[in-house]
Amino acid sequence: MEKIIDEKKQGEALQLETSTNNGRQLYIESYGCQMNFSDSEIVASILANEGFNTTQNIQEADLVLVNTCSIREKAEQTIRKRLEKFNAVKKTNPKMKVGVLGCMAERLKSKFLEEERIVDMVVGPDAYKDLPNLVKEIDEGRNAVNVILSKEETYGDVAPVRLNSNGVSAFVSITRGCDNMCTFCVVPFTRGRERSRDPQSILSEIADLYQQGFKEITLLGQNVDSYLWYGGGLKKDFEKASELQQATAVDFAKLLDMVASSYPNLRIRFSTSNPQDMHESVLRSMAKHDNICKYIHLPVQSGSNRMLQAMNRLHTREEYFALIDKIREIIPDCAISQDMIAGFPTETEQDHQDTLSLMNYVKYDFGFMFTYSERPGTLAERKMEDDIPMEVKKRRLQEIIDLQMQHSHYRTKAHVGKTEEVLIEGTSKKSDTHWKGRNTQNTVVVFPKEDYKLGEFVNVKITDCTAATLIGEAVGYSKNN
Ligand code: SAH
Ligand code: F3S
Repeated sequence: MEKIIDEKKQGEALQLETSTNNGRQLYIESYGCQMNFSDSEIVASILANEGFNTTQNIQEADLVLVNTCSIREKAEQTIRKRLEKFNAVKKTNPKMKVGVLGCMAERLKSKFLEEERIVDMVVGPDAYKDLPNLVKEIDEGRNAVNVILSKEETYGDVAPVRLNSNGVSAFVSITRGCDNMCTFCVVPFTRGRERSRDPQSILSEIADLYQQGFKEITLLGQNVDSYLWYGGGLKKDFEKASELQQATAVDFAKLLDMVASSYPNLRIRFSTSNPQDMHESVLRSMAKHDNICKYIHLPVQSGSNRMLQAMNRLHTREEYFALIDKIREIIPDCAISQDMIAGFPTETEQDHQDTLSLMNYVKYDFGFMFTYSERPGTLAERKMEDDIPMEVKKRRLQEIIDLQMQHSHYRTKAHVGKTEEVLIEGTSKKSDTHWKGRNTQNTVVVFPKEDYKLGEFVNVKITDCTAATLIGEAVGYSKNN
């Protein structure tokens, strides 16, 4: 799920507040999607039980962990540079060990130890429970690797330690892996087959967050609409489940319903939706509950049917439009965002125009846009030539970004003059005297602090906007507060 974390947050060192102290220091950095940031909280929890505190000072770290992303080549290059930097720091801090976690660990496996020799430990996304053993191995001077992928939701029983948290919003993972096999995407190889988490364990994690005073949760999965709990096991084995298991299965619409009705004062978000798996029932659950935020991240990647097929996206442009129409009919005020890839193999100027015209139809509230990056092992890499020159990819990407800017501004302008409920999430980046939060549509709203406090629900009258931000003034608490 790359509902991608603010670029500036990438690689931020995370401070673990609550911990025991036997002197061992953990420094952990995360890159990529929200799931990685969420997984780092699981890692911190597992290692806190082994007596690790977190630190933001690399020089005093006993263990440096880098939770990595393989989605595009550039992400891997950035991380490789960081690993080289840590390797250099080791020379001045000989007790320090370095471990690589996440998707690069899974993709490159023991290559890291054998060829590159820049890390001591390689741990794939499903192997974090083995960290206590792996740390023992490296303590005893051996390299350690575990990149085994799992068939079960792996961390349902681990209570994540909330790292760098604002105490207001938190991630809760509900599925792992992905079965979709989009031809450009490395995720199915690095995160394995799709499996869902027991709804009871999801609800108990949310109960815990609620008790701690959290006000908003985001349900996370590579493909949340595909959530399906029937007693455990892989999504693809559902057909083999017993009749009773099938009859009592919980799908995503039902899960949303359960969470929203159990916690009417909690804001609920989710990410990411895949158009081919999103059913009307999910839209109905969203419409039924005020506390489910009216926002859908609905990546499409391209507006061309030929490209969609080559990417193995299992829907057409026309089906996507029908889904957009359905969303607008059932949830008229729903915000929608996109992911787009410019320059997939064989993409013509006409295919690119189809992407722009699709965008003109939807007028997304915002988007995450990339040039195509060939990933080793994917079907596209094996079967297709990466034949679009970089300057063409970049030019098309720029046209997509420019159009998105226009649409974003068109969308933000429509909020001006309205009064909207905002959850206060922190101080504005630009002004200490202003709060920032988001409305239900996920648009950032900035307003003077006055006497309002972090974590409060406030009604804000929107007076102005940029393409990305709404500017306003609080007019009182919302009924939710
Ligand atoms: N279903 C996932 C998608 C993960 S990847 C989710 O939860 O968001 C996030 C986005 O990265 C994709 O939607 C796609 O737009 C982009 N992406 C994935 N592989 C890519 C590649 N090889 N080159 C460029 N962009 C890519
Ligand atoms: Fe990747 Fe497609 Fe899954 S983009 S994460 S294979 S839905």
